[in-house]
Formats: sequence, C-alpha cells, structure tokens
Amino acid sequence: MQDRRSFLQRLALSTGAVILMPAVSRCGAPQASAPAAAVRDPNEPLRTEPAGWDAIAYNRERGNAGFIPATYQAAINAESGPKEALGKHLPYLPEVGSVPAGFMAMMWGDPSKGHGRHPNAVKSEANNQVGHWYDWIRVRRAEEGETEELQSSFSDWPGTAAADNGAYAVFGEGDITADGGKNTIYLAAIPAGLKSGDRVRVWAHCLTHGEYVAFLTVP
Ligand SMILES: [Fe+2]
Repeated sequence: MQDRRSFLQRLALSTGAVILMPAVSRCGAPQASAPAAAVRDPNEPLRTEPAGWDAIAYNRERGNAGFIPATYQAAINAESGPKEALGKHLPYLPEVGSVPAGFMAMMWGDPSKGHGRHPNAVKSEANNQVGHWYDWIRVRRAEEGETEELQSSFSDWPGTAAADNGAYAVFGEGDITADGGKNTIYLAAIPAGLKSGDRVRVWAHCLTHGEYVAFLTVP
C-alpha cells in the first residue's frame, strides 16, 4: 500500500500540478509570505479530469492512500467494490423539480450505472455512534486556477442543524427515513457565477466511509 505523500507526489507528476506545502510561520522578524492563493491544500484532489479519467479507479487509489478508512478498504478492493463501495459513494444528479438558487441537488450511487444506492442513518451502535451520512460537500468550478469553493455542512440527519448551510430534500413523495434513507437528496451550495452546463468538482465526505471525488455538470 502506498502512503498519502507518495500518492500526492505521483499525482502531481501525472497532472503536472504543483503542490505547495503550507509554510510554517514563526514569531520574530516579519517574513515575506507567499500570497495565500499559492498555498494549496496537500490533500486536495484533482481539480480537473484528465482525458479518460476513471472515477472508480481514482477513488480506489486515493482511498487506499488513506482517504478512505482502513476498515472499508477491503470493501473497495473487493470484486463488488466498484459498484457497491466506490460507485455507491459517487454523486449523481437526481431528476428533481426546481432547486433553490445557488444550490445543486445530488444523491450518491447512481442506479442507472448499476451502483448501489447510498443509505443514510442516524447515530447508532451499527455505525459506532458516528452516524452515516455526508457531513460535508465541497463544490468548485472544475479548473486548474484559483477559484471559489463552497463547503456545505450537514451536521445531522435526517434534519440539518440551524448553523448548517446544506439542506436535505426527499426524492419522491415518501419519508426521508424510508428505505434506509436512500431517498435523501443533498442540496449543496455552489459558488456564485456557475451556470447550467458548467463542470464542477465535487469533493465530499461520508462520515463512516471517507472522502470521494467526482465531476458533475451543473444542470
Ligand atoms: Fe457511506
């Protein structure tokens, strides 16, 4: 298994991207500092899709490098992993009616691709009292340069907390908790200026199964 650093270094080479480690500042004489925009989060995933990009392979590799918990790595590496563990955690655009301005509706595990539909669950012994839902979703325009990224937070399920900027909706007419919570729609905030047809990167975190990265087109 490779570690996170070697994965990132290889990623940098394969994409031609430059990964800058944050500088450590010390007290004392003022020091010249690089513009904040030049400091890139070393854990940040791809900003754009290379030609022929494979979301399943990318997320498996990134997951094995530590962005998916060790306890779930057997599942992602199993024969059923592409559809049942990795595909189940990739976002897709559900067919919904109107969505509030400034938000994008997404669900996880596209049934049209044969992926398992991602469940959602309250904190319980079954999930070590962690809960099972996406607690953050980051959306930014898919481009290499600096651009705004918005993070939506979801601190609880089936309802969000007052301070959360993300929101839930239900696919279909039923209760959000029905069918293992699989009908939960996530409403994630998107940066101003994005319009229909724009490509975005979605970087999101499942409380029990780690981080996943995908690219979607704003509907
Ligand atoms: Fe999950």
